[in-house]
Amino acid sequence: EFEVRLASSGKAYHVPVGRTVLQVLTEAGVFVPASCEQGVCGTCVTRVLDGVPEHRDLYLTEEEQAANDQFTPCCSRARGAHLLLDL
Ligand code: FES
Repeated sequence: EFEVRLASSGKAYHVPVGRTVLQVLTEAGVFVPASCEQGVCGTCVTRVLDGVPEHRDLYLTEEEQAANDQFTPCCSRARGAHLLLDL
């Protein structure tokens, strides 16, 4: 479990085990474009401003994943306790 914070609003959202960032944000009324929800299409790719994502997608290249400045909220998670998202 971890927390995501949105740069635009400053609001933070708790992401429990078994829920995705996309699910949590969508339920909270935060629109994130998404399609496959399986980490393959790239529709949901979101910039990460702080924190380290745990990449679980098949869309970003290894280099893109290693840069840790974007992630796929439909399936990827956080390595630490926090992610700051450019939303
Ligand atoms: Fe397709 Fe996230 S919705 S990669």
